Amino acid sequence: MNEQLFEYVRKQFPALKREVNGFPVAYLDGPGGYQVPESVIAAVKHYFVDMNANVGSQFETAQNTSAMIQDARGIFADFFNCCWDEVVFGANMTTLNFALAQALVRQLKPGDSVLITELDHEANRGPWLQLQDRGIEVADVAMDINTCTLDMEDLKVKLLKKPKAVAVNYACNGVGTISDVEKIIQMAHEVDAVTVVDAVHYAAHGPIDVRKLDVDFLLCSAYKFFGPHIGVMYAKKEMLSKLTPLNLRTQYQYPPFMLETGTLNLEGIAGAFAAVEFIADIGLKFGNEFDWQTEELKANRRNQILAGLQIFETYEMALTAYLIEAITTGVSKATLYGPAAGHPRTSTVSLTYGGYTADQVAKYLGDKGLFVWGGHFYAIRLVEKLGLMDRGGLVRIGIAPYNSRTELDRLVEALSDEDALKRFAEAMS
Ligand SMILES: Cc1ncc(COP(=O)(O)O)c(C=O)c1O
Repeated sequence: MNEQLFEYVRKQFPALKREVNGFPVAYLDGPGGYQVPESVIAAVKHYFVDMNANVGSQFETAQNTSAMIQDARGIFADFFNCCWDEVVFGANMTTLNFALAQALVRQLKPGDSVLITELDHEANRGPWLQLQDRGIEVADVAMDINTCTLDMEDLKVKLLKKPKAVAVNYACNGVGTISDVEKIIQMAHEVDAVTVVDAVHYAAHGPIDVRKLDVDFLLCSAYKFFGPHIGVMYAKKEMLSKLTPLNLRTQYQYPPFMLETGTLNLEGIAGAFAAVEFIADIGLKFGNEFDWQTEELKANRRNQILAGLQIFETYEMALTAYLIEAITTGVSKATLYGPAAGHPRTSTVSLTYGGYTADQVAKYLGDKGLFVWGGHFYAIRLVEKLGLMDRGGLVRIGIAPYNSRTELDRLVEALSDEDALKRFAEAMS
């Protein structure tokens, strides 16, 4: 990102003005949730001021709300590359995935199996593991603990059992590994399995094309890419219409409404719309500098979204390489976890530090205004497999488009000061 673009991006985020102990806050906690731009805050406010009515009635504000939701389905259709009636809103990804699993199980019989992976967040494991109560067998695709990647040979073997569903993440929120989901979906479809992709971590970092992937269900959460706390699911129409979800008889029984129980988070949807618009706006304003033609950008909102994501991804990956290099060469006490160089990854970098727990390191950094996460982040199977549970898991650094090289320099400098961390940990104990 050039200087002008970076300044423009940073200016959009009012939260960046925060200070802690005299230090400007560096929000390196993106994988736990992004900061939101002013336009998202304005959209939520606009909803409350100018709409704020439940849908389905004839008066003006109810009609405005209905129109806004329809528009939001439209922008997510561009985000996923699907049709508006394949976009399902929900409380969050976990709740949507539970609803999906509980609907799918109605098509299964005891003895059928589903496949999950060790690299997944519990939100894409728990809903499937719970089906064991209904006599469904659940198998786990192994991860390679040295590279934090999926063991594709193990996947091949486990597919021989012809699972009815395969649930896998696009990218791992613990260490940033991007999996070859297109290949996995193709392999799963060869045995007629339904495919469910958790794109919550990935969605902030790269383009999603559900048509190209040929995925059946794909879930993400707007708060991971500049939006409020709502979940959004792509559901292939022919697959969604076959489901018999738990719902009310007063509800529409056809796509995309059948999985949307109760009143939706309407202000959240308004904000989620603005979050995708923010990405598109960056693409439209600055896509020219990244090989996009003005006509291509003006003609098509999906192109704007793709350009925006490309700009962010390019910026993040440059900073990720910079950070990994700086830690590898300058922080002797750090051990990095994650995919080997060259393997597709996001800008999420995880490590352990000497004999310290992840929480000790996160607290030490937090006091310096460097906000990172410590723990398992619900990617608990991964952390168990890495043998890090008794050390409190990993320290996770997430690089978002509003983070700067200066912030990473501050982080590396703080991590290099082993004595300061030692004094801090002693004072804490
Ligand atoms: C990879 C991944 N999947 C699923 C989830 C759960 O999403 P939600 O909080 O929307 O339920 C998260 C949240 O951290 C995540 O990172």
